[in-house]
Amino acid sequence: GKEIIEKYNFDYPVLIAHRGSSYEAPESTEPAMKKSVQSGIDYIEMDVQRTKDGELVIFHDQELLRLTDAAEVFPERDNYRFRNFTLEELRKLDYGSWFNEAYPDRARDEYEGLDILTLEEVIEIVDPVNTGVGLAIELKSPYLYQDIEKEIIELLNEKEIYEDEELAPRVLFLSFSPASLERLGELRPESPRLLLTSSNVATKWRWEGWLNLTEEVAEGIGPKGHVSLPWYIGAAHRRGLFVFPYVINHSWQIKVLTWFSADGYITDRPELLNNFFDRA
Ligand code: G3P
Ligand code: CA
Repeated sequence: GKEIIEKYNFDYPVLIAHRGSSYEAPESTEPAMKKSVQSGIDYIEMDVQRTKDGELVIFHDQELLRLTDAAEVFPERDNYRFRNFTLEELRKLDYGSWFNEAYPDRARDEYEGLDILTLEEVIEIVDPVNTGVGLAIELKSPYLYQDIEKEIIELLNEKEIYEDEELAPRVLFLSFSPASLERLGELRPESPRLLLTSSNVATKWRWEGWLNLTEEVAEGIGPKGHVSLPWYIGAAHRRGLFVFPYVINHSWQIKVLTWFSADGYITDRPELLNNFFDRA
């Protein structure tokens, strides 16, 4: 699919760090973002949600319990739904200690007590215009957040993150929601979009259905998984769509997908992909 992505000035293949360098550091935190920028990856993927008081922040889950100490800090709350918390409340939580407990071999003292990041803070850390590292912005559950597409684009404009037609896109939009991608295409057509699939694609007809949908709302497709899929990459290419599978963390997966000409890879391990493709 090299000729397909060349028209967007993308490097081939496109390498995207999933929630930052989330194998090495707690996902979506400052160290995860900084490690990714230093790794020289092409894009950093991030999940944008909105706090109860309307701030755009980076957080993957709809609930706080997996990644934070919310149950200890707010024992009186009867639910830990992300969108029911204000930014001030979210700033009281610890976004790093879970990682040290889950992965003692990768634990670091400085991960304890890490803070949540706003989208604005991440734009400043990544600094796309100066570093050349792009923002792969996923709209997470956009149906919960009316007009979040417009707010994200307004912030990008405010931070002067514009596209330059001579360069690779600085912003790539991702979503499982076709409606959200459609809206983004109306508001900022110059940034390409990736429709994510929520399951491994097992059958040809199912994949064709995904491609039909993708053609309507995006320039590429981001299939989940890697095993049943490679035979279908050619079918996407025949429609002029690029294919960035997620989450690809092992060399054998990269080898298989390279054989089938995947156009990009979404990974927790930027170093592994940079080494594989000799980008480091
Ligand atoms: O980049 C695609 C991937 O991030 C979508 O799944 O659950 O990790 O947001 P998820
Ligand atoms: Ca994501």
